[in-house]
Amino acid sequence: MSDESPAHLDGVAACVFDAYGTLFDFASAAARVAELPADRRAAVTALWRDKQLQYAWLRTLQGRYVDFRQVTADALAYALESLGLEDAGLAERLMALYLELDPFPEAPETLRALRARGFRTAILSNGTPAMLEGLVARAGLDGAFDAILSADAVGAFKTDPRVYQSALDALALPAQAIVFVSSNGWDAYGASDFGMRVVWCNRTRQRRERLPGAPDFEVATLADLPRLLPPSPGVTNSR
Ligand code: 2OP
Repeated sequence: MSDESPAHLDGVAACVFDAYGTLFDFASAAARVAELPADRRAAVTALWRDKQLQYAWLRTLQGRYVDFRQVTADALAYALESLGLEDAGLAERLMALYLELDPFPEAPETLRALRARGFRTAILSNGTPAMLEGLVARAGLDGAFDAILSADAVGAFKTDPRVYQSALDALALPAQAIVFVSSNGWDAYGASDFGMRVVWCNRTRQRRERLPGAPDFEVATLADLPRLLPPSPGVTNSR
């Protein structure tokens, strides 16, 4: 992200995307619950997400993996209780909506443009395969990905390096031939430290992380991604 960075990412063969917050808007779950006032929706979304991430990291550190659907349900229960909104019906509704999140408006066209220019595309997410496949199908994005890769196959969550490695293994590409795209600073820095090229889709203008790693580019939305990638990948699909 320095002034000396090249204007493009050369030698990239595949674009690998984080799911939640990057391709799919996790705020769209609470936003659809009409009985929650707007400020409560924001509070639920923020605390639910914070706890979800904490639980994923802590369970990975402790070697106490459960899948992301369970982590998400546990985090929601914590958030609703903390906010004085404990209600089984509301929890059930929000969990169901979490499986039907809206894609960000620019995501489908960005994926189409990248694939038209010869890039392979994939998701690499903490979400379970069923959660991710459901979101992709509901968004009409079937066929938009070469692979939908889940941390569940590893039994640990990002930023565990084994999760990033699983994308290299699945795509049979070296880290430098993959650009990883995430809206999450922690994930962008983690993938960069692992060795991938990284574009941080910094939708909410977060400050830079004080963590190992250095994303190559920062963009405001996914629509800014294709211009960073020259049309000819120039890398064959071998390691
Ligand atoms: C992911 O999709 C949780 O946003 C994170 O892996």
